[in-house]
Amino acid sequence: MPESPRVSFPLTVNGVTHHLTVDPRTTLLDVLREHLELTGAKKGCDHGQCGACTVLLDGRRVNSCLILAISQQSARITTIEGLGRPDDLHPVQREMLEHDGYQCGYCTPGQVCSAVGMLDEVAQGWPSAVTDGTEPELDRDEVRERMSGNLCRCGAYPNIVDAILAAAR
Ligand code: FES
Ligand code: FES
Repeated sequence: MPESPRVSFPLTVNGVTHHLTVDPRTTLLDVLREHLELTGAKKGCDHGQCGACTVLLDGRRVNSCLILAISQQSARITTIEGLGRPDDLHPVQREMLEHDGYQCGYCTPGQVCSAVGMLDEVAQGWPSAVTDGTEPELDRDEVRERMSGNLCRCGAYPNIVDAILAAAR
C-alpha cells in the first residue's frame, strides 16, 4: 500500500509557530491533539455537531474537526490552553468556575472558547436569530441561541448561561 503523502507547513497556536509535517488531510483538531499535545479541545462527534472541538481562528469561533490544518497557515489560532492559566484565568473561565458551569467537563473547553468568540460577536453588534431590534442585548435567550452549537450532555446549561452573563458584565 502506498504511504500517505506528507507536507510541511507552519501553524501558529497560542502565539507559538510550529513547523509540522503531516498528511495534508489532517484536521486542525487532530493536529492540535495528536501532534501538538494540546488536548483541551475535545473530539465529541468529529462531525461539526457538538462544539466540543471549538477553538478561535483570528478571534472567530470554529469547529476544528471540520477544518484542515493546512488551510490555516496564516491564522492566529487560540485554544483553551491559550486563553488563561490556572493562576490567571480568562474572565469566562473564572465565571464558569464561580457558577459551576460544568459537570463532567468534557464539553467545557469548547463552551469557553465559544463563549469568548460569542461575546466578541455581541460586542461588535452582530445580531442572532433571536435578536429583538437592531442592537443585540445579551439576555438568556441571546446566550442560549448563540451557544446552541455547543452541546452539554450533562445538562449544565443554566449554569453556563449564568457564567456567560456574568463574564459579559
Ligand atoms: S467534535 Fe467537532 S463539532 Fe463535535
Ligand atoms: S459538562 Fe459534561 S458534557 Fe458538558
